[in-house]
Amino acid sequence: MRFVVVDDHDALSRSAADELAAVVAAKLSSSVLVATGNTPMGMYAELAERRRRGRFDASQLRAWQLDEYLGLAPGDRRSLYGWMRRSFVEPLGIPDGNVARLPGDSADPEAACAAFERAILAAGGIDVAILGLGPNGHLGFNEPPATTDSPTRIVDLTPESVASNGPYWGGADQVPRRALTVGMRVILNARLTLLVVSGAHKRDILARAVAGPISPDVPASLLRTVPNVVVVADRAAWGDLPMGSAPVDGR
Ligand code: F6R
Repeated sequence: MRFVVVDDHDALSRSAADELAAVVAAKLSSSVLVATGNTPMGMYAELAERRRRGRFDASQLRAWQLDEYLGLAPGDRRSLYGWMRRSFVEPLGIPDGNVARLPGDSADPEAACAAFERAILAAGGIDVAILGLGPNGHLGFNEPPATTDSPTRIVDLTPESVASNGPYWGGADQVPRRALTVGMRVILNARLTLLVVSGAHKRDILARAVAGPISPDVPASLLRTVPNVVVVADRAAWGDLPMGSAPVDGR
């Protein structure tokens, strides 16, 4: 696990964009697992600006949706697919044929999850997973307790996740209680994982993720069981954690 600690959210956005751009420069057709949420929005805007200036080419990139609420059509204002399209797919000019939607409105969502995971594997796996850190340590909607071998599946959201997503949609009562998420086993097999963490409200959970016990109770701590994870944090989130604070099994 490598740490990049920067002054503020703007610097985080540039650093995270650098990390992704380096991979994409080496492999234009990289498969990217795309989180929504607030934290990576500056990174996506930075990449879009680089593209506008001819410095970032996403024309062959493949975008895979990380998570979605159960039962929502793609046009629903709460759909994470819509958010991914507006913030990532469209500003980066990714062709529609290269975008994989996690179909929350499928008639058979269990089968759709399994098919989604098979498609990721058939495409050669994930090159870069872009992840935010949930207030309860979740990755995607892998809620605690999480296991390293969990498949892409339907999950019940914890009350904490429902509450934290409420403000995006005008109140917790607007947030569906169930969701689809790419599972930990796909995330942990990504060739590079970027965990972006911003703000003082993430300080305690970030400390638990990178310096506490590796535990199903903090899904993000499971990232310390694999190589090639980069944590990009701003100082407000990092606090006074020493840079060498991750246990040696953090690699
Ligand atoms: C969103 C997602 C979530 C968020 C996490 C952090 O697609 O997968 O796990 O990344 O809840 O959200 P923010 O960045 O809004 O703090």
